[in-house]
Amino acid sequence: MTAHSIELTVNGRNVSGMAEPRTHLAEFLRGPLGLTGTHLGCEQGVCGACTVLIDGKPQRSCLTFAVSCNGDEIRTVEGFDDDPVMTELREAFSAHHALQCGYCTPGMLVTARDIVTRLGDVDEQTIRRELSGNICRCTGYVGIVAAIRQVTAGKTAVAQSWNFEARTEAVAASVAVEAAPAASTAAPMDFSMSGDGFSVLTQQVMVAAPVDQVWAALGDIRRMAACLPGAAVETVEGDRVTGALTVSFGPIKASFAGEGEVARDDAGRTGTVKGRGRDARGGSSATGEIAYAVRAQGEGTIIDVTVRYKLTGPLAQFGRSALVTDFARRMTETFAANLTAMLTGGETAAPMKAELNLASLIWQVLRDRVRRLFGG
Ligand code: FES
Ligand code: FES
Repeated sequence: MTAHSIELTVNGRNVSGMAEPRTHLAEFLRGPLGLTGTHLGCEQGVCGACTVLIDGKPQRSCLTFAVSCNGDEIRTVEGFDDDPVMTELREAFSAHHALQCGYCTPGMLVTARDIVTRLGDVDEQTIRRELSGNICRCTGYVGIVAAIRQVTAGKTAVAQSWNFEARTEAVAASVAVEAAPAASTAAPMDFSMSGDGFSVLTQQVMVAAPVDQVWAALGDIRRMAACLPGAAVETVEGDRVTGALTVSFGPIKASFAGEGEVARDDAGRTGTVKGRGRDARGGSSATGEIAYAVRAQGEGTIIDVTVRYKLTGPLAQFGRSALVTDFARRMTETFAANLTAMLTGGETAAPMKAELNLASLIWQVLRDRVRRLFGG
């Protein structure tokens, strides 16, 4: 695989190096740069041990491609020596016995500092919700929460005088677990990176309905959106469509408002949807294209799907292959099961939600992996 030259600022120092397209930021920090304070736990985006600041925002370095950080400013746990908030947090963690083995601590401290500087004086419930993306297997969280609470107490005015963003709006974390589709309706998914920096997913989706019906249904963008949790179509004018996709992941919530163009070839039974969207609150942007081809398979239908996408901003951390392919596989299974149910008059496999809950999807992915591990 071809390595790319990247340049970034790490803890105030300009650094450069070579990184393969699949090298994640944590590997780059820990390996060539020797910054082993950033810990790797799950490498699946679940535990938060690898959390660092990228352009001032906490992100999971195990899910972020190093090449996608070209030109960015990174701050790891080693980069806070002169930071007054981090100094207070370290002392409070020590006073409240907020660590045992210390494995989670670098990620905890980076997230804790974000809570203090972004939210100021907040209650325990908010601290626990904001910490939901960081897992500690030792402490039971009581000391961690008490330490952060101690530092946040009365901090709003101080945080503002330090010129930190004092955002007081806490985003609700959804913990509902959606029902999994009753049966697998999607073949294994392939993931690759294109030369122009797009992530590319390809998959075959099996739908238990005749090909004519499926092709006709795919031409109705509103019906298709109804099969995809979190998707909503607002306007359709000719081949142009506007709408939104809402996702949540613990304290991260994003609603991508966007527009796209739809094209279909009836003779070849192929189609494309090209679109772009932006989450105004979180600052993430997405651009991409879905290409599909429909063909008969016995009495059912196969849809060959290729998705090309590029994410920027905080949600770009979800660009790494293993997690994204699991999410995308789950999404296409849900879509195919709902489409089948819609065309055959059956019950939908997963209830239509106002948002796509990534935390719930992570739970499903982990549960499936544990079942596979134990042959369940
Ligand atoms: S190592 Fe667990 S979230 Fe990155
Ligand atoms: S102190 Fe051991 S995992 Fe948190």
